[in-house]
Amino acid sequence: MKTIIVTGTPCTGKSTLSKKLVKYLQRLQVKLLDVNLIINKHGLKWSYEKSRDTYIIDTKKLNKILIDYITKEKKAKTAYLIIDSHLSHYLPSKYVNLCIITTCNLKKLQSRLRKRNYGLAKVRENLDAEIFEIIYHEAKQLHSKLVKIDTTKGINLNTLKKIKKHITG
Ligand SMILES: Nc1ncnc2c1ncn2[C@@H]1O[C@H](COP(=O)(O)OP(=O)(O)OP(=O)(O)O)[C@@H](O)[C@H]1O
Ligand SMILES: [Mg+2]
Repeated sequence: MKTIIVTGTPCTGKSTLSKKLVKYLQRLQVKLLDVNLIINKHGLKWSYEKSRDTYIIDTKKLNKILIDYITKEKKAKTAYLIIDSHLSHYLPSKYVNLCIITTCNLKKLQSRLRKRNYGLAKVRENLDAEIFEIIYHEAKQLHSKLVKIDTTKGINLNTLKKIKKHITG
């Protein structure tokens, strides 16, 4: 089984890309894991930081649950498992075959974040995270097979083909 993680700054298009990838790979046995569902199901929200309008997640526990899930899917002979989350890159590299990092032009990202009605501070924090490529630098330290996908202008067939090559190649 190949495990593909999709990470990146909030609103850079992880879920949109993951869903398109699932559709593109649909003839193969592919599964998409919604990490937000897991976080809620297992009560992994530690605390709420009001100033950042953000929940602190127990990433150690999350990793353990994700690893269990990967093991289960391997046994079930799933061919491709896609894990969509800005926390997915904390998984140890031995469980990951490809790390996709979604990126987005700052103007576009600002408009996407505003559309979600995020407060000014949260919009600023996420824009800063994108400017400093925080997730990319974190992911680079852990994973060797990385691909950055710019979603500013949407995802076309060529992008999906390119990702498939990274997965199968
Ligand atoms: N490829 C794309 N083409 C057009 N719009 C996009 C694309 N990717 C993302 N968007 C838009 O940007 C917004 C955020 O996208 P999405 O939910 O996929 O981001 P995300 O990275 O999964 O966010 P989060 O970290 O909060 O889960 C949505 O309104 C979506 O419509
Ligand atoms: Mg998402």
